[in-house]
Amino acid sequence: MIVLGLESTCDESAAAVLRHPREVLSSVVKSQIDEHTRFGGVVPEIASRLHLNYLSSCVHEALERAELSLADIDVIAVSNRPGLQGGLLVGTTLAKTLSYLCDKPLVMVDHLLGHLVAPDLEEEMVYPCVAGIFSGAHSNVYLGKDPLSWEMLARSRDDAPGEAFDKTAKLLGLSYPGGPSIQKNAEGADEKAYQLPLPLPKSLEGDFSFSGLKTAVLYHIRGTNGKEACPEDKWPDLAASFQFTVAKGLTKSLVKEAKANKVKHIYIGGGVAANSRLREYLKSEAKKVGIGVSYPPIRLCVDNATMIARAGALLFQEGKVSSLSESVSSRSEMGLSPSA
Ligand code: KG4
Ligand code: ZN
Repeated sequence: MIVLGLESTCDESAAAVLRHPREVLSSVVKSQIDEHTRFGGVVPEIASRLHLNYLSSCVHEALERAELSLADIDVIAVSNRPGLQGGLLVGTTLAKTLSYLCDKPLVMVDHLLGHLVAPDLEEEMVYPCVAGIFSGAHSNVYLGKDPLSWEMLARSRDDAPGEAFDKTAKLLGLSYPGGPSIQKNAEGADEKAYQLPLPLPKSLEGDFSFSGLKTAVLYHIRGTNGKEACPEDKWPDLAASFQFTVAKGLTKSLVKEAKANKVKHIYIGGGVAANSRLREYLKSEAKKVGIGVSYPPIRLCVDNATMIARAGALLFQEGKVSSLSESVSSRSEMGLSPSA
């Protein structure tokens, strides 16, 4: 089965051609980061206009690189939730048009399902498992029973970790996106220099909150609330301490849920899963208690269309074909019902 995948939920326009299950024939990702950087974050209106400019040429290029035409495609998969409405409408309208004109089945995919099954593109995933999706919009921990059955175990009550990285980077005068900037700035710095609150307040019973952590960084910068002002030459230590605290919080939650659910394998995905400190800390902590950890390569952690094609193929095999009247949603339903 050959699947054409389309992705336009946030600020990456992407198209990919996948021969199910694992042969990636092409993957094209056109990032919009340069156009959003000067605003310090994604501007939804700009994002939708850019998807309109980029997405059809991504599809064209993906087919060209795969040396295929639309006639060779068996299924068209597109992310229709969660995300920014404008981008979702551009992606689904293009996918519906191609599906109608070429008479190909259409499968609408929850973007988070794409992140959850992305590791499977590299090697067959082990079930049951615990998986964390940590991105600019999500901080969700799931129990995976099979590729299409996920139960949500924990989520963030406020910001997502990627958002916390982006906002903290801004406080520290670092550029957008904050994750890679903080990781770079923290290289060689002292991550134990500042004691910051873990994003796991006891009152939330396992859910995350990143607001206290972000505020603590602000107090250190300003020298308020009993904190001594952190001199600018120590800001890399503050950046490293922030990064380490996020890595510790996410790791603590994942390992706790894996142990509680008697699961032997943890997966992570989403943009924040590209963080090298999180990757190494999680692996070493999980190893201490006999739990394995896998994460996809960075190109599959950040937004891409290959994972949408993979999820689309799984849904298609279960007969979950979408109608042309199916619409988009800013919200995910992953893990909220027994079988998403
Ligand atoms: O999954 P993603 O590409 O887009 C969605 O939000 O769906 O994630 C983007 C987020 C941004 O907030 C960015 O700062 C963060 O992922 N990010 C990182 C790293 N690379 C990207 N955060 C920490 N460390 C990184 N190396
Ligand atoms: Zn994503």
